[in-house]
Amino acid sequence: MPEGYKQMIEAHDLLRKFYHHLLVNTTEGQQALEYLLQRGLTEAVIEKFQIGYALDSWDFVYKFLVKRGFSEEILEKAGLIIPREKDKSYFDRFRNRVMFPITDHQGNTIAFSGRALGDDEPKYLNSPETPIFNKSAILYNFHKARSHIRKKEQVVIFEGFADCISAVRAGVEHSVATMGTALTDQHVQILKRNTDQILLCYDSDSAGLTAAYRASNMLIEQGFQVKVALMPDNLDPDDYIKKYGEKSFNSEVIGASLTYMAFQMHYLRRGKNLNNEGDRIAYIEEVLKRISRLSNAVERDLYLRQLSSEFSLSLDALEDQARQTFITER
Ligand code: GTP
Ligand code: MN
Ligand code: MN
Ligand code: MN
Ligand code: MN
Repeated sequence: MPEGYKQMIEAHDLLRKFYHHLLVNTTEGQQALEYLLQRGLTEAVIEKFQIGYALDSWDFVYKFLVKRGFSEEILEKAGLIIPREKDKSYFDRFRNRVMFPITDHQGNTIAFSGRALGDDEPKYLNSPETPIFNKSAILYNFHKARSHIRKKEQVVIFEGFADCISAVRAGVEHSVATMGTALTDQHVQILKRNTDQILLCYDSDSAGLTAAYRASNMLIEQGFQVKVALMPDNLDPDDYIKKYGEKSFNSEVIGASLTYMAFQMHYLRRGKNLNNEGDRIAYIEEVLKRISRLSNAVERDLYLRQLSSEFSLSLDALEDQARQTFITER
């Protein structure tokens, strides 16, 4: 256990409660509360996710926690205050932001992500890496989602907090989010202990699709069953739910998610003109490469038949080619 672990957790816990109080009960928090309500959050959700507000102040956190006996050293290490270069004074890391507490997988608050109320940059400001916060090993909402993941035998992964929160509200409780990073090996190891089925529900913009493409290939190699959910018009899950409702999200997005291969085929076709011979051959080779990696023979057969009928190619030739690809890839 890192030195000062207990105090760092305690400071985060106190601050989480205070940020939440400021948001819900004070006039200073009113604008932030209105921002959240206008985004469609409810008081019940704000309570459930313990969302809060950091005052527009340079030193309220500093004063609040020092008064309660925490040392400057501990607070700096915990990422809550930042030393000024000139003198030895400190200022608060988070100011005038909506605060999302991040918990470890036991439920202790170990970090925060603060969202700007308007168009301030950065949009999200996260706690830095600290002795208690290792971003690449933490999944947002995992602590609450774990039992649902086990029950459903599946986990749904989102890019953003807002998406994860909206999905939980829509009844998709086996939801987690990465925090602006790609899925890491450490995330994968944690998930592996709980399920082998992963549904990626990333933003349907170009960046999100590419992230889903990379993650799905990585996860397939790790032996997961992978599905990918897509939304129309570059929407992200939170936007989709706002626009089309929770029921539609469940049936048309989660319920209509693509298998790994269907998603790969969809992705690989983007920007290609399959009437062009070169594009067509490149596409078929890419798809064969992926088919050859499938461990399930029935699936392999299914997609080979699809390719064969779509491009009027003989099934035998495709099977040979897939086998060949598999051998050369080894
Ligand atoms: P909203 O605009 O609040 O709906 O956010 P979003 O979740 O849709 O954000 P976006 O799709 O742009 O990014 C997805 C995730 O990446 C966010 O939830 C954050 O975790 C992270 N992220 C986005 N912008 C920033 C940023 O400026 N800094 C950092 N550190 N992370 C960011
Ligand atoms: Mn409350
Ligand atoms: Mn995005
Ligand atoms: Mn988004
Ligand atoms: Mn969003």
